[in-house]
Amino acid sequence: MPEPLDTLIQQHRNEAGGLMPLLHAVQAAYGFVAPEMVEPIAKGFNLSRAEVHGVISYYHHFRTTPPGRTVVQVCRAEACKACGSDGLMAEVEQRLGIKAHETRADGAVSLEPVYCLGLCAQSPAMQVNDRLFARVTPERLPAVLSAVEVAA
Ligand code: FES
Repeated sequence: MPEPLDTLIQQHRNEAGGLMPLLHAVQAAYGFVAPEMVEPIAKGFNLSRAEVHGVISYYHHFRTTPPGRTVVQVCRAEACKACGSDGLMAEVEQRLGIKAHETRADGAVSLEPVYCLGLCAQSPAMQVNDRLFARVTPERLPAVLSAVEVAA
């Protein structure tokens, strides 16, 4: 059972720059920041709904719909692009049967682009749920995506 939203708001509302940590905490607890959460968050931080919505929509990291049971992320930042992440993303899309930013109809998997996983020296990088993978080649992709089969 996730921490109630009001409790999370209380934990962060008096913190300098507390909105970002709150949004991270909400996404960690619920998997996404639901549109109906914007109003109580705005009230808790004495902000307008537009301000809160602006922050959520500015950062790709924040989801506004529930993710699939497995979340596959492919790094699209510079170092990974230089090492073939465009082709890697195309291969992942083909194997999962969805495009970037989509969730499969059965709810098994979501595919998200991300912009740096901190593994630039070992590009291209991917993350499946909380597990990081470096130097992902097409040959390694089936093993990397095996978690998706478990979640299906
Ligand atoms: S650019 Fe991909 S991990 Fe940093």
